[in-house]
Amino acid sequence: MKSESIHIAVMTDQLMELVAPRAGGSYLDATLGGGTHTSELLERSGPDGHVVSLDVDAKALERAKKRFKAYGSRWQGVHANFGDLEDVALRHGWKGFDGIVFDLGFSSDELEDASKGLSFKEDGPLDMRLGSGEAASRLTAEDIVNSWRQEELAEIIRNYGEERMAGRIARAICDARKHGRITRTMRLAEIVASALPRNYERGRIHPATRTFQALRIAVNDELEVLKSALTAAVGLLEPEGRIAVISFHSLEDRIVKHLFKGNDGLEILTKKPLIPTEEEMAENPRSRSAKLRGALKIDKTKENTQTKKYAKRLRHVDDTAT
Ligand SMILES: C[S@@+](CC[C@H](N)C(=O)[O-])C[C@H]1O[C@@H](n2cnc3c(N)ncnc32)[C@H](O)[C@@H]1O
Repeated sequence: MKSESIHIAVMTDQLMELVAPRAGGSYLDATLGGGTHTSELLERSGPDGHVVSLDVDAKALERAKKRFKAYGSRWQGVHANFGDLEDVALRHGWKGFDGIVFDLGFSSDELEDASKGLSFKEDGPLDMRLGSGEAASRLTAEDIVNSWRQEELAEIIRNYGEERMAGRIARAICDARKHGRITRTMRLAEIVASALPRNYERGRIHPATRTFQALRIAVNDELEVLKSALTAAVGLLEPEGRIAVISFHSLEDRIVKHLFKGNDGLEILTKKPLIPTEEEMAENPRSRSAKLRGALKIDKTKENTQTKKYAKRLRHVDDTAT
């Protein structure tokens, strides 16, 4: 394991502006990764604020333990899946947070680790599970590719990969597996490429990009996990606490948008999602697809005062009318 993370965090300034950490506040970073966002939260909530950071990736926590040692009890790292946030919070006795941040997907440390099987550019086992041990899923990409029916494969590639050619790809996978089990990422990438027209997407993305995204989402049940994590996170916010989420594809962004919109306890802080600056996109191409949304938990006690005032005003109008 490399002792330093190679991950470059995205939209850090915009994220901090949205969450507005304050001295003495308590914050949850649900996706520790390389630790840049955690570090900002610690700095900005100093000298006495608290930050808890979660990750399914045990290596991310090992690195962070060294990096944040000097913060003593101000920082706590927890190896967990954010899909279990409600239980994890209960177990640790966390009451409420002034801010919660999510920066979804994999870190560059994980993407570059060929043993995870996330890359179609470097050969590795068809695994794709996030994290390790209890925090990881039981299903692997190899299981899906070799045992799911053609229609099921086409459905996940279409729905989770947003891939128009899903039917052709699913057929090619099923034909190929008749000749032997598909166990490696490069083999799958070749099968997918062979099913697509030569000038697929005018060469803008690798032909296997959407299929790999789909498998990753299915293996880790990412969309359902995100829904339950966001619901739990809103429940853990203090009144006027803020939640902010950075997502990297439209399926995730749609979930965040609808969950925020559908919750009348939240005030939306970003009518449209924020995107990285031109400068950041030029410096860090991975940031190009990032979208940031934020919301604030309405303080019901203040709202009640306002509602009461409003009701009083209405009563007064009624009184004068009679
Ligand atoms: C894009 S990176 C976060 C980078 C981080 N914000 C930083 O400042 O470096 C996403 C991280 O979230 C973790 N992650 C993804 N899904 C998760 C889940 N369901 N539960 C916990 N951690 C998760 C990944 O392991 C990865 O380390």
